Amino acid sequence: MLRRGGRVSGECRLYLVTGNRNKLEEAQGILEEYGVRLEQAPLEGKLEIQSDSLEEIALYAARDAYRRLRKPLIVDDSGLFIEALKGFPGPYSSYVYKTIGWMGILRLMHNVHNRRACFRTAAVLIYPPLEKVFVGETCGVITREPRGTGGFGFDPIFVPEGYTKTYAEMTLEEKNRVSHRYKAFSKLGEWIRTGRVKCPGSSTP
Ligand code: IMP
Repeated sequence: MLRRGGRVSGECRLYLVTGNRNKLEEAQGILEEYGVRLEQAPLEGKLEIQSDSLEEIALYAARDAYRRLRKPLIVDDSGLFIEALKGFPGPYSSYVYKTIGWMGILRLMHNVHNRRACFRTAAVLIYPPLEKVFVGETCGVITREPRGTGGFGFDPIFVPEGYTKTYAEMTLEEKNRVSHRYKAFSKLGEWIRTGRVKCPGSSTP
């Protein structure tokens, strides 16, 4: 296994608390390079507090999951922040996706000229006694029509800056080179690699 510098002594296994297989696949694709193997946490549901802060939501969910599982784990909380809608749906993205979906967002933005939006992820790693939050953000625009069949969630209506394809038109590898999740999880992977947690797979500091 090749790592960017540092000695690797084995595989670091962590749980990802999610019911979303796409998210697991994306996160695994990113963390592979850092010697981290993810497993879906065998937990029913994820605690979702109401807050304007993704970091706070992810931290509460991670602490709750750790209380139940007692194993090193990661919780990722993400949201789509649309400038013309004053950051909506932001931390409420999951509820908005389940209720009005991306079609509802396109309807809300029917006559809106400013299409700028950012996806953000807060990924919390709990590796006792350590607890650490990693954030990632990718900005771009909301399309006028959905495009593509890949990915999940709001992927068909988001084009990252500097690209012409929506996330849903990209392969997993393409999305994983630019996405908000890539930015948060590669920081997490880099942190593990530098050996700040005693996870097999991290370098000897
Ligand atoms: P979650 O709370 O992290 O599961 O994310 C909240 C909502 O944002 C989800 O229901 C998804 O619809 C959406 N979402 C999160 N990440 C992505 C992504 O990478 N692409 C598209 N939609 C996403």
